[in-house]
Amino acid sequence: MTTIIDGKQVAASVIDTVKSATAALEKDAGVRPGLAVIIVGDDPASHAYVSSKSRMAKECGFTSIQHTLPEETTQEELARLVETLNADETIHGILVQLPLPKHLKSEPIIQSIKPEKDVDGLHVVNAGKVATGDLDGGLVSCTPAGAMVFVRRTHGDDLSGLNAVVIGRSNLFGKPMSALLLAANATVTTAHSRTKDLAGVCRNADILVAAVGRPEMVKADWVKPGATVIDVGINRIAAPEKGEGKSRLVGDVAFDEAAKVAGVITPVPGGVGPMTIAMLMANTVIAAYRKAGRTPPKF
Ligand code: GUN
Repeated sequence: MTTIIDGKQVAASVIDTVKSATAALEKDAGVRPGLAVIIVGDDPASHAYVSSKSRMAKECGFTSIQHTLPEETTQEELARLVETLNADETIHGILVQLPLPKHLKSEPIIQSIKPEKDVDGLHVVNAGKVATGDLDGGLVSCTPAGAMVFVRRTHGDDLSGLNAVVIGRSNLFGKPMSALLLAANATVTTAHSRTKDLAGVCRNADILVAAVGRPEMVKADWVKPGATVIDVGINRIAAPEKGEGKSRLVGDVAFDEAAKVAGVITPVPGGVGPMTIAMLMANTVIAAYRKAGRTPPKF
């Protein structure tokens, strides 16, 4: 029987840990975790994401601050806000929602966030710590951190002897995911669009992680029987069967056929997606524990 991972349920258990860690920190150290989320402009999808992040932060018991800035905000104004939040002792996590409007450069803004408050894990210091295997010192970006929770709950902390294949080599996901799998002792291949015989490479994977942004690219015959398949893709495709002009979300894996071969598989939606916000909350509570000189919980 194939196990279908319920991402909502796993995310809820992460959130439970965040809530109790938050209550304990407030009781023992008088510190309440603080998360500041910045959004610039009017993109409706970004506003929806940011609202759920702010709402979840409140539900976790954090101080939750949202800065909603107008489309015409200048680089200097945004930089000044990050500086203010860097200096604010009540704020432990800063997130600048991406993408920013076209006239703003995101990279200097992201790199100006204090690494210890970079709960998105996008600062080069945090990316460097992941790359060097220093996982207890930095903050790991939320989507790979969430995918690793699934991997650990399926295979345990030690992946010795297992072959892992990550399809995709982005700085946001593929590279940190490969580094995390390697740090857990897996034998890791980072595959991408230029890989020769991609299907053959994937068939060798005990753990197959797809993050390419191509709807249903990974077919059943790419999957080793019994493998763990983690689908990070979120693709909107036309769904005329639901009515004219309708669409639906699919992953990078052809779920129905791959589920017949895999041992464990994540669905889209409802797999990795719900974990991203949960891990943002986890990173914020970790940052607050460290600031208070305490050992943070593990997720
Ligand atoms: N936009 C879409 N996903 C993300 C994310 O994880 N972090 C940030 N900062 N912006 C995003």
